[in-house]
Amino acid sequence: KKFKRTIKMKHFIDINNFKKKEIDEIISLAKKIKKNPKKYSSSCKDKTLGLIFEKQSLRTRLSFNVGMQKLGGSVLELQSKDIGFDNKREKAEDVLNVLSQYIDCLMIRNNNHKQIVNLSKENILPIINGLTEYSHPCQILGDFLTLQEHLKSIKNANIAWIGDYNNVLRSLIHLQNIYNFKLNLIIPKEIFKNYKKEFQQYKNKNLNHFFDPILGTKNSNCIMTDVWVSMGEKNKNKKKYFKNYTVDKKIISNAKNNVIFMHCLPAKRGQEVTSEVLDGKNSVVLMQAKNRMYVQQAILIYVLKK
Ligand code: CP
Ligand code: NVA
Repeated sequence: KKFKRTIKMKHFIDINNFKKKEIDEIISLAKKIKKNPKKYSSSCKDKTLGLIFEKQSLRTRLSFNVGMQKLGGSVLELQSKDIGFDNKREKAEDVLNVLSQYIDCLMIRNNNHKQIVNLSKENILPIINGLTEYSHPCQILGDFLTLQEHLKSIKNANIAWIGDYNNVLRSLIHLQNIYNFKLNLIIPKEIFKNYKKEFQQYKNKNLNHFFDPILGTKNSNCIMTDVWVSMGEKNKNKKKYFKNYTVDKKIISNAKNNVIFMHCLPAKRGQEVTSEVLDGKNSVVLMQAKNRMYVQQAILIYVLKK
């Protein structure tokens, strides 16, 4: 007998699953929690969040863990191997069925986006995507809060993404498709050619692709980057395509005055960004890390709300 539930359940898998109004509500709640954390100290009382990390994590691990505790809830970190979340001892759905007898929601970081999507469709437990090879929606929603705090308006934001076509970028593109801010992708041709088809699905007049970092960042008020080789990637050879793509003082001074520099971290100093920029006055990377917590607290309240 299948235990499939029919009740409607909320998940947080990808930004493009949401309407503008829902994203606005999550961000607005995150701002309220940040302003008055005490008010929310029992919002998740008696609730338990499970965390499964099949890849390394510092920020996501800590921000979910501390964030949930500050909402009065508890957290269990579960090791895939130990609990048999690998379809070998029993099916992943069956693990979820059992988990749902003890815990209230589950964050998963893995290298298998399809699995997260499929598990969420079972509606056994609210599922949160804590990064897959495809996307990183918690990161970009956190970054959306940081952008709102630093830029005068999102409508007039002019963001340049410089680097790889990866999970973080996909979530950023999903956000751009909802809010329609200007987003220039500066991606080497050897990489971009593999994603051209995918990019066409999202393209609009405010979403454009450049090869030249200087041209692409000319009017930016935010420059964002990430590692050139993501976790779990097989093609470690691709670094050679990123010549001239290191975000350095020259790229920063070519952009708008007061341009902010963003990076989800971890950073490879000297590769995608120089230490001078990463630690410099335009950098907001530690605020990004901090804001992850408030946004994820808002996501937790959102998915746990009946
Ligand atoms: N930015 C981010 O998700 O960091 P971790 O991989 O350390 O969680
Ligand atoms: N693109 C990076 C992001 C890490 C938070 C990776 O997947 O490794």
